[in-house]
Amino acid sequence: MKKILAEIIAEWYRGHKRDLPWRRNPDAYRVWVSEIMLQQTRVEAVKPYYERFLRELPTVRDLAQAQEDKLLKLWEGLGYYNRVRNMQQAAQQIMIDYQGKFPDTYEEIRSLKGIGSYTAGAISAFAYGIPKAAVDGNVLRVVSRITGSRKDVMKQSVRREMEEELEKIIPENAASDFNQGLIELGAIVCLPNGEPRCKECPAAPFCEARKQGTIAEIPVKSKGKARKIEDRTVLVFKDGKKLAIRKRPGKGLLAGLYEFPNEKGHLTLDEVSAYSKKIGLMPVRIKELGQAKHIFSHIEWHMTGYEVIVDELEQTNERGFLFILPEEIEQEYPIPSAFEYYTRYAGIGR
Ligand code: ADE
Repeated sequence: MKKILAEIIAEWYRGHKRDLPWRRNPDAYRVWVSEIMLQQTRVEAVKPYYERFLRELPTVRDLAQAQEDKLLKLWEGLGYYNRVRNMQQAAQQIMIDYQGKFPDTYEEIRSLKGIGSYTAGAISAFAYGIPKAAVDGNVLRVVSRITGSRKDVMKQSVRREMEEELEKIIPENAASDFNQGLIELGAIVCLPNGEPRCKECPAAPFCEARKQGTIAEIPVKSKGKARKIEDRTVLVFKDGKKLAIRKRPGKGLLAGLYEFPNEKGHLTLDEVSAYSKKIGLMPVRIKELGQAKHIFSHIEWHMTGYEVIVDELEQTNERGFLFILPEEIEQEYPIPSAFEYYTRYAGIGR
């Protein structure tokens, strides 16, 4: 890409940027929180989460000291919960190593837990004006199209090479506008599926993919491994108004979050009845709740669910089951979206 085009993109950004909460007063903490949230989630979905997170945990110190359940509750529904666990570890690192002041060099920022080259580049450029690149999926698409590159954007080496190339042309004093311009082009002009809006694109006269008619083929992405499919049965045990939930283990998928009890496989109504009795919960009535699917990055849950009304005298905490009122679950206990179909049924709503 040419230097002149970098200037044009930065200038275009100044005139066309959307007014987004994290673009106002972009200090390092605010940029960090927004970029981590935006990694796997759409802008519109992130907005309310971002505002609430900043309100509840306005400083690095607040984040470092937050209780785990509170932290996960603030993240509930965003998915990829390790992102926020890593953020807390990084905040604790900042408290110890930098007395709570966010570090202001790329290398120090990059060394924090959960911060890779994209996020470190974004914080460095947006908050401090440091001339580093911030190459995410959007930027890989935009730059691959502009340069007509058919290299596999799933490869780390291709990303690294792009970072190096971009860093050669970042306009003077415009690291933020240039990087955000590329991101913004990817978000509102150079769209991933369907027709990109080339008529609105300041880079169109320079765009190789457009010239060659290869926009639909670029970026080239190698296929990842197929996801593993897991059948599960979700059980909504009800005792009066209270529902059984339990905390997941501290490691692995959805670590530390709360869930409805669930078992491997698709159980029949009779099997659910037998299972309930086995764990000491006497079923009074069992109802099928229907099927739901949830897709994680490496795994898919294909779920079936049952509501099991239990006899209140038989309540047990043997398996870590907690019987909690739905309103209280809604306020205090983080439940991942994987269970949304069943939480909605149970009157726990977002
Ligand atoms: N996607 C990733 N980072 C973004 C940002 N800062 N603004 C809008 N969309 C984004």
